[in-house]
Amino acid sequence: MADMVRTTKKTDMTAEATKGEKEGEKLYEGKAKIVYTTSDPDLLVVYYKDDATAFNGRKKGTIQEKGVRNASISAAFFEFLAGRGVETHFVKLLSEREMLVKRLEIIPIEVVVRNIAAGSLARRLGLPEGTRLAHTVVEFYYKSDELGDPLINNYHIKAVGLASEEEVASLEVMALSVNDLLREFLAPRKLELVDFKLEFGRHHGRILLGDEISPDTCRFWDAATGEKLDKDRFRRDLGGVEEAYHEVLRRVLQKV
Ligand code: TMP
Repeated sequence: MADMVRTTKKTDMTAEATKGEKEGEKLYEGKAKIVYTTSDPDLLVVYYKDDATAFNGRKKGTIQEKGVRNASISAAFFEFLAGRGVETHFVKLLSEREMLVKRLEIIPIEVVVRNIAAGSLARRLGLPEGTRLAHTVVEFYYKSDELGDPLINNYHIKAVGLASEEEVASLEVMALSVNDLLREFLAPRKLELVDFKLEFGRHHGRILLGDEISPDTCRFWDAATGEKLDKDRFRRDLGGVEEAYHEVLRRVLQKV
């Protein structure tokens, strides 16, 4: 299906544009996804790639079938969250790598929520990785590849005008609610939600959850063994990367 859409697009873009919900022009290509316009100005198609980067693009690689796994995992999370009242950009999967989403005006703030110390928080606070935090941590990062996504706070957000005070309050409330809901979803699937990153955007005056929720953007540890089942396997050259993504998909789709 993905290949069919893509081949048709090259040869007969005008016909495609009239059908709606099919890819139009490439709007943006990021490190892990490509975004296409559709004939509906309110809708976009997100194509999930197998390309993987880390350390702001300094480490590059490919994770076989990552795009397929992440599209399915994200779709399952978005559907679950929508059912629990979280507004997201997700509309539907169009193929195994393509997702139809509502067009957002992206707020350039990455919202990170942490339950257990790992990664940059463990380094910044000198905590051993795996330390359970006495309180959930919410952090904001300025979404800027040139600057390497620096950590920012409410004052920086206001000073630069990245979002209004009301919007920042919504981001925090939504991110904490996503944390509670995802932990509830993952507990019976024996996955520990260590931390994750969310992105949000504006759509007709509302703030919707955007981007993806996948092993690229979350840390998932096996609840029993603590085994890492996320992109840290790629970042840290731990091996078994493809297997980890596949295992997360299997557990996410598991009926509990
Ligand atoms: P960190 O510990 O490296 O700051 O990462 C925190 C969480 O954010 C982790 O779940 C991975 C995710 N993340 C992204 O989604 N994109 C990024 O560029 C980085 C650095 C982290």
